[in-house]
Formats: sequence, C-alpha cells, structure tokens
Amino acid sequence: MTDMHKIETALTGIIVADDGAPLALPENGIGSPQRRMDGPDKVTGQATYAGEDMPNGTLHAVLVTSPVAKGRIAAVDTGQARAAPGVVRVLTPADMPTLGSPSVPPTAQSKLPMSSLDIDYEGQPIAIVLAETLEQAEAGAGLVRIGIERAKPAVFDTAEVEVPPTEGNGYVLGELDPAHGDVDAGFANAAHRIEATYTTPTRHHNMMEPSATLAEWRGGDLHLNDATQWSWGLQLSLAGIFDMEPSRIHIRCPYTGGGFGAKGYVWPHQILAPIAARIVGRPVKLNLTRTGCYTGCGYQSGTQSRLRLASDAQGHLTAVEHHTENVTSVSDDYIEFANMGTRGMYAMPAYRMTTRVRRANVGTPTAMRAPHEGPGMFALESAMDELAYEIGMDPLELRLANYTDSDPHSGKPFSSNKLREAYAEGARRIGWSDRVHEPRSRRDGDKLLGLGMAGAIMTTFRNASQARVAMTPDGRFTVEVGSQEIGTGTRTIFAQVVAERLGIPSERVTVVLGSTDLPPASATLGSASTISIGSAVATATDNLKTRLDDMAGRETRPDEWPDLLARLGVDRVQAEGAFTLPGDVSFDAHGGQTDYSMHTWGAVFVEMEVDEITGIARMRRAVAAYSAGRILNPVTARSQMIGGIIFGYGRAMLEASPMDPRYGRYLSKNLSGVQLPVNADIPRNIDVCFIEEHDPHASAIGVRGIGELGEVGVAAAITNAIYNATGKRVRDLPVHFEHLIA
Ligand code: MOS
Repeated sequence: MTDMHKIETALTGIIVADDGAPLALPENGIGSPQRRMDGPDKVTGQATYAGEDMPNGTLHAVLVTSPVAKGRIAAVDTGQARAAPGVVRVLTPADMPTLGSPSVPPTAQSKLPMSSLDIDYEGQPIAIVLAETLEQAEAGAGLVRIGIERAKPAVFDTAEVEVPPTEGNGYVLGELDPAHGDVDAGFANAAHRIEATYTTPTRHHNMMEPSATLAEWRGGDLHLNDATQWSWGLQLSLAGIFDMEPSRIHIRCPYTGGGFGAKGYVWPHQILAPIAARIVGRPVKLNLTRTGCYTGCGYQSGTQSRLRLASDAQGHLTAVEHHTENVTSVSDDYIEFANMGTRGMYAMPAYRMTTRVRRANVGTPTAMRAPHEGPGMFALESAMDELAYEIGMDPLELRLANYTDSDPHSGKPFSSNKLREAYAEGARRIGWSDRVHEPRSRRDGDKLLGLGMAGAIMTTFRNASQARVAMTPDGRFTVEVGSQEIGTGTRTIFAQVVAERLGIPSERVTVVLGSTDLPPASATLGSASTISIGSAVATATDNLKTRLDDMAGRETRPDEWPDLLARLGVDRVQAEGAFTLPGDVSFDAHGGQTDYSMHTWGAVFVEMEVDEITGIARMRRAVAAYSAGRILNPVTARSQMIGGIIFGYGRAMLEASPMDPRYGRYLSKNLSGVQLPVNADIPRNIDVCFIEEHDPHASAIGVRGIGELGEVGVAAAITNAIYNATGKRVRDLPVHFEHLIA
C-alpha cells in the first residue's frame, strides 16, 4: 500500500453533504487533496529557519535574566564576563538608547525590555552578553553578577481581582461585561439549575522551533531574520520603538517552525537584538533556548470560570452566567476572554458575562491555540453536560434544544452555520445512539467505558491583506505575499486558489512568502490566513486575467498567454489584489461591521476508557465534524484538525506549567518536566470530517477558518466521557489519575 493510497483512504468521507453523504474530491484546484508544497524541503532539511542563518561577523547574544520576580536592580557587575574569552560586549540597562513608545499589540508588553531597574517578573532580561561563539556568550552570561534589592514581597496567587482597563488596552476583543435580559428572573423561575467552577492551568506553547532572531543594520535599514507569526506586526512594533519608517525595516521569515501564538506578538529578544546590533555594529543572533521560551515569549494564563446555567423542564436555557478570571502581568492587561464562546453558542433569553484579571509578578500572558474559546468552552461544555445530567436528558439533545440561528449577543444572523449537521454526522460516526446515559454502565474488563461530547465555537477573525500574482512566458505563475508559512499548508493553498481561478494545474504555481518586501499580509494568527490572504490571492488572480484579456483585446484562456507574452515581448505580467474589510479597518472579529455574525463550529465526540484500579484514563476514539466554511485542501485541513484534537487532549490530560507560589518560578522550564502528548497517548482512531459549506459572506472564496477550532471542545468532550464512564466529574484540568481511582 503506497503512502498516497493511505491518505486517499483516510480522506474518503472527509467532506460530507448535509445528509452525511461523502463527496468526491476534485483532482485540481480548490478542494483537491494536495500535499504540502514545502514538505520535500522540510523532510530533506533544505527548509531553513531564522535561527540557522549566520552572516559573516555575527555575534551570539545570550540574555541574563532576573532570578527573582520582584525587586530593583542595585548593581550589575560585568567585569568578569567582559574579561571572559570571546566576549565582545556586555550590555546593561545603562547602555540602552532612548526609544519610542511601542504599540501593544503587536508589541506584547508596553514596558520595553531593560528600560527600567525595576524587576516585575522572573525571567525579565537584565543584561545581554555578546560573544564570538554561543558557548562563549553562555559562559560569559554565567559570570555577570547582579545585585538586587528586594523590597516588598512579590504577589502571585494572592493577587486581588481587578476590572481590567479597556481604554487604551489593545488586548480588548469585545465588550467586557455584556448582559441581556432578566438574569435573576431566569434563574428564579427555572426548573433546573447548575452552578460550578472550572479551572484550566497555566501552560506553555512549546512550539517545535524556539523563538529566534538575527538582527543586522545595513545603510540605516534594519534587517531581521525572525521566527514570527506576524512579520508586519514586528515591522510596525519596531518602527515605533526605533522611530523609523516601517519600509526601512525588513523582516525575513523563511519558515516558522510552529508557534501556537508564542510568535504572534513582539517579545524582548526581538527588541534587544536590534539594539545590540546597532551598538556593536555587527549582526547579532539571539535565539531563545527552550527554557528561555518559558519566560521570554508568553504563555496561556490559567483561567477560572464560574458558570451558572438555568433551564426550563424541557432543557431550554432561561439564564446563563459566565464569570471568568485570568492572571496577567504588572505592566499589561492580557485578557483571556473565556466567556467569548458562551456569548455565541446557544439561544439565551438572559445572560450576564463578566471578565476580570488578577495582576501578579509574572510575565505577560498571550494568545495560545485556541485563545478565549479554548479554555472557556471547557467550562461551558462541561456545565452543559452537568445540566443534561441534572435534567436527565441526553447531552446532545440538550445542545439541539438550545441551537440558535442568530448570534445571541449581537442579534445578527450567522454568515453560515452547519452546526446541526455537524452534530448529526459526528453522532452517527461515533455511534452516539448506542450510548448509555447512566454513568458506569459500560465496561471492558477492568476498564470503565464512556462516551462524551461537546460543541465547539471559534471566533472568525479577518485581516486586510494584499497579494500579487505574476505570469511569465514559460506559462508559470508566481504568488507573492508577505505572509509566513507556519507549517499549516499556507503555500499549498494559495497555489490551489490560483489554479482554480485560472483552470490550470497547481504545479504551475510558485508561492513566494516570508518577507516584508512583498505585499503586506495578514498575521498567521486567529486562524485567519486562508480567509484573508486567500481572498487577496483570488482577487489578484482575477485582476491578472483581466489585464491579460486587456492586452489581447479580447477574452483569453491561460493556455494562450505564453504566446501572447512572447508576441508582445513582455517577460512578466503581474497584478495585485486586496482583501478589504467594511469600515476599512485592518482587522475584524465576529463579522465586524457587516450584517452577519461569523464563527466556526464543531461537534466533538470522544470515547474514553478508565482503569478502575489505577485511575489511568485513555482516549479510545475521537470523532469531530466541523462547520468551518469551504475547505480548500482536505489533506492540510484534516491534519490541522487532528493536530487540534491532540492539542486539546494535551489540555485535558497532561499539560500544565505549575509555578512555585513562593518565588514565582515555573517548576519546570523544559520538556523534561512538562508532559505533552506523544504518539503513545493518541489513538489512531481520530476521525474528522467537514460539512460541505460555502460561506458567501465571510469571504469571496467561501471560507472562514479552521486552525484553532480543532482544539475547542476537546477537553470537555474528554471529561464528559470520563464522567459517563466513572460518574466522576473533573472540573480542574489537567485530569489526574488520583481523581479517578475508585
Ligand atoms: Mo493563534 S493563538 O492566534 O497563533
């Protein structure tokens, strides 16, 4: 059996009609199962990453960071370090130039690194050692002596709850405390009520490629080779900080080795490397170690969600309350909007959502797949399961009873929504009708078996984007766009868009990404690349066709173009295209100023087994069906969703970054002490499918977005299945076997 054959087998039934009938996949263009164009370069080691580049004369930088979480730097003794072999320079806060003010985001934190003697969190940069080799820089860093005055004690888990400022806070994604209807009456008159608190832990992105940057000044221009999810955000951030024209800052990002949000915003190393390079007049490479990533590029804050649900006797929700809190830093208010999904998921006559932060001596949290809905839907979908048991109702029936055709918060109709079809297809594939509602009803030897499900919802983010498509007389096409390939199939999909628009094979399309010298593009954030840039590529392709028709003076076909170009003596024809948003904003969420509310949806079903004696729980099967708009490539889409389910399994069963509450230090800052899912944890049996859909409102190419949706709902489906198996309700993640021992 060839590998290709295996892929095709797995893809049978991946796109299904409303009634679940599998659709045939086209052979070319949009919807065809094309492999990633960057695959061969990656598996043969030819794809290069930011941290690998070494221009002549490059110095290695290593950060010296604060060992304590609060205090004031009294002295930095660099004498020994400066005398160490190979060390060229040691920079301290005294060496820092005067800088402009950063915009937050894209800059992750409003306080610039090494700009003050105050220490606000463990891991905060204090000095930079620059040396000829990495080993010499590391040895030098070990010789820097820091004197710290420790005045007031640091604050960690005792932090007070605060209302985060919304004015001037770039992290605000919506109304802070939306409310509607008579919530108190909804609770008072209900037939059934549940109230519970759910927590998700602090955890780290642990992307495969640690963050890395290489900075070089040439003729007054700044060149950065950077591992980023948002080249243009980095350019914008540095333009503010260095008070420069953005066009004089050139970000190159050949490939991004994963990120999950850690490379979305701009962190200290990306600011300090160009400062150091300017001071020493040489290229400076600053690669974070795995440990450095634990305090150097954000994390997902733990969340605490208090849910109250009330329903009538038939299970219709009469009132919903979702209060959420997350920890943030002293300097900034990153908000984890854990009730964002709750605002859009079900019909609710009355609701009250509140969002608070607790400010502590920790680094600033950031977006992590899936931000907001990821932690929040664990809470909501666990609470829905609890309500189903309270009523004595099938959990899927409860979801269907509360299905809504319009956004319960904005009142707008959804741009497209096939969640009902997704519920039906997922239920059919897992065999939901055979489920026994009563916990502890099914077993296999010592193993208790259970089925659980959860709904999923994710915000549709859209970004204004541009793209250029060119044609040469050899009949080849080139897409040029300043995006970055993070490994999700971005390149491949843009080639498919061109191929479909022109009716040509996608092998004739080359996609050039990875530089801000190309047309400006969306961030690889918020599952928004395909919808935003794919739409711009489609428009650029259409514009190219119009231009060639104009040149010919009549309607032409692409196979006529090579001759046309030869006859006219033209060696390249190009056209630009843009994806713009109503109100001419650069970014919107949930449909922004349109008449529609935009989300993606999913239905996740899991079978768990729990060993009654050891308490060890394992996932036997996972099935998920999605309503996410048109699917451009079922191979890359399936891979995204399986990755999301594994990520969700990690959230449910393994991942956490506990902090020592006395010192504000993570107990483990590398992968030896943090559990991540490995192959042995994950069953082969992960079955994903997409309901056939074409969203006419979200984008011209019918898509919405998929990446982060795959993670949403998985943790609740797992703990709901554990409840069905054992009768034990897990409200605090990750699941520990101690919770489950009989
Ligand atoms: Mo995603 S957390 O927007 O990389």
